[in-house]
Amino acid sequence: MADLDGLKVSKDYHVDVPFANQTGFFLKGSNSLDWGMKSHLSRIFNPKSGNTVMFAFDHGYFMGSTAGLERLDLLLPQLAPYVDCFMGTRGALRTCVPPELVKSVALRVTSGSSMLQEDLSHEVVAVDIEDAVRMNADCMAVQTFIGAGGQLSSIDNLSRVINAGIRYSVPTMGVCAVGKDMARTDRFFKLATRIIAEMGVQIVKSYDCENFEEVAAACPVPIVVAGGKKLPEKEALELAYGVMQKGAHGVDMGRNIFQSAHPVAMAKAVSKIVHDGYTVKEAWELFQEESR
Ligand code: 5RP
Repeated sequence: MADLDGLKVSKDYHVDVPFANQTGFFLKGSNSLDWGMKSHLSRIFNPKSGNTVMFAFDHGYFMGSTAGLERLDLLLPQLAPYVDCFMGTRGALRTCVPPELVKSVALRVTSGSSMLQEDLSHEVVAVDIEDAVRMNADCMAVQTFIGAGGQLSSIDNLSRVINAGIRYSVPTMGVCAVGKDMARTDRFFKLATRIIAEMGVQIVKSYDCENFEEVAAACPVPIVVAGGKKLPEKEALELAYGVMQKGAHGVDMGRNIFQSAHPVAMAKAVSKIVHDGYTVKEAWELFQEESR
């Protein structure tokens, strides 16, 4: 193991210089992948904009019935036209998403904790690769706890899923989890997102933070940003706009869409920011019009 004494602070992020190893395929870090992986990634990320709007509704896997997600069967068909990817559990997808909706799917494959516990960082791989393939999953989402009690098992989970994904050409999305006691600093996210990327995932899901542009620049695969706790709609649009300006390749938004009084209007406004370069003002005006 490298000697940790006298570590130098990283500083040369070259945030204004585009990612260098980029000829041949539109998506960051995906040049050397095979056809199947690229095909899945092209379903998640719009090849024109290079970005994605994922709709996260996997909260039930540890929170049970969640405000705004009580009736997935009613909500998901309404949102489908305005998002690129559904991120959920196999139970929710199989029971509540008509397959003819033809959305790309980010399938959560780890679980094992519930909100009744103090430490949520101990999970297992609960869905095997054959079932992910049967569900035509476009990527498998693995909750990854860096710096928490469950770090070792979650890295073990992540490695198993990545290895299986490589065998069957199904991408893996490493979800950077933030434990209750962890500060959401750029230092933490630079560490965690880079560890997850170097494990071999094709997508990282993380959070906005100070110096997010450096986090994104130092991560060799696309980062999609979680929405996090419910904010007033305009602030959520500012969050989406800000991270897109700073190098995110999309958002994976849950509560800021499904807990809005107008989830469809919110999905449309976020999508315009992510794919069409709308400013916050333009997206906010669209949201207001659509929610009348
Ligand atoms: C947590 C997740 C959620 O999908 C993620 O937090 C996105 O939802 P929200 O935008 O509500 O935070 O991966 O395990």
